[in-house]
Amino acid sequence: MGSAQSLDAYSMETRAAPESRRADAELVEGYLSGSSVSPLLLCGDALEILRSVPDESIDCCMTSPPYWKKRQYACEGIGQESTAAEYVRNLLEITGEIKRALKPAGSFWLNVGDTYQDKSLQSIPWRIAIEMTDSQGWILRNTVVWNKVKGNPDNSADKLRNMYEPVFHFVKCKKYYYDVDSARNPPSKAEVRDGRAVSSTGVSGVRYRKQIEGSSVLSAEQKESAVRELDRALEDMREGRLFDFRMIIKGQQRATHSDSESVSGRAKELNRNGFYILRNNPSGSKPGDVWNIVPEDTQNRGGHYAAYPEELCLNPIKMTCPKEGVVLDPFCGTGTTMKAAMGLGRKSIGIDVSSEYIRLSEGRVDGKQSV
Ligand SMILES: C[S@@+](CC[C@H](N)C(=O)[O-])C[C@H]1O[C@@H](n2cnc3c(N)ncnc32)[C@H](O)[C@@H]1O
Repeated sequence: MGSAQSLDAYSMETRAAPESRRADAELVEGYLSGSSVSPLLLCGDALEILRSVPDESIDCCMTSPPYWKKRQYACEGIGQESTAAEYVRNLLEITGEIKRALKPAGSFWLNVGDTYQDKSLQSIPWRIAIEMTDSQGWILRNTVVWNKVKGNPDNSADKLRNMYEPVFHFVKCKKYYYDVDSARNPPSKAEVRDGRAVSSTGVSGVRYRKQIEGSSVLSAEQKESAVRELDRALEDMREGRLFDFRMIIKGQQRATHSDSESVSGRAKELNRNGFYILRNNPSGSKPGDVWNIVPEDTQNRGGHYAAYPEELCLNPIKMTCPKEGVVLDPFCGTGTTMKAAMGLGRKSIGIDVSSEYIRLSEGRVDGKQSV
């Protein structure tokens, strides 16, 4: 592993704008054309440095900007605005630059938390997301709920503990890079007992068979075909070609989405055949949009109080950054995104206004610090 490449000598305070922009652009272009996965770390204002990133050069951006009105960083920066509208406007300048720098097939993962003011949540993440879709034309593909599992202690007697933060997945274009297989949960294999297969969720076919045989709704022909397909699914489980399945039988279970034929192709199939079988993907299930990830102990990240866990970055990078691609984090803090990208063999560019955090990031990606 090579050492992280940083721009400490060009810290924001010491550079004249056009000169620094040229220097940034040269560094970024040099990095993009190279093959090292050792991150490029740039110290300075995100908006300024982003302007020197070439159009359509980045595959995946993952970031967590400073939250509104949470003063916890070494440098003043975004997040100190007096109104939520101003904060959203400033962030939108950044997201506009990210959109320009992303490749057409690129993805943008944005983690941002909410803020209370006068006792009321300000719906900050949703204000940002709505502005991004409405005024910048982003496509919002998922709102992941990052369930922090433990949450922070909360002594207030008139509200619940705040346990989650959203992570939005935005894309620029309807067709984009997405490797869902890279993030599938490994399937739990079916058990074979006395020659009979039982899935990890307890499906053995016994109940379905009874329901088919006792049905007063299915015709004799439909019953015969349902038993045949059930046996085929059980045989596939026994042979290890299938790990689990569900059967929907007319008059017994509901169609998966809707009973209306005009809405659901499955409802049509159910009316025509009297049943259908939903086979689980043998490569495992895709992750859902609720992620249970415990925040890391930020004690070991120097003075930084808002680092996110490396695990939060893994699926976004695996799924939406090709192996030879580049990840960008314009508010990289302690370099978590860079560390995750490097671990997954991807190039990455990190920007932070604080030279202290850039140094922390360097230590982490160089392996000098085990945080
Ligand atoms: C929520 S933290 C990011 C933490 C990061 N995800 C991690 O795991 O360490 C936001 C970061 O944005 C940086 N920041 C604030 N204003 C900035 C600006 N205008 N340009 C670049 N970075 C800025 C702060 O120094 C802080 O490190």
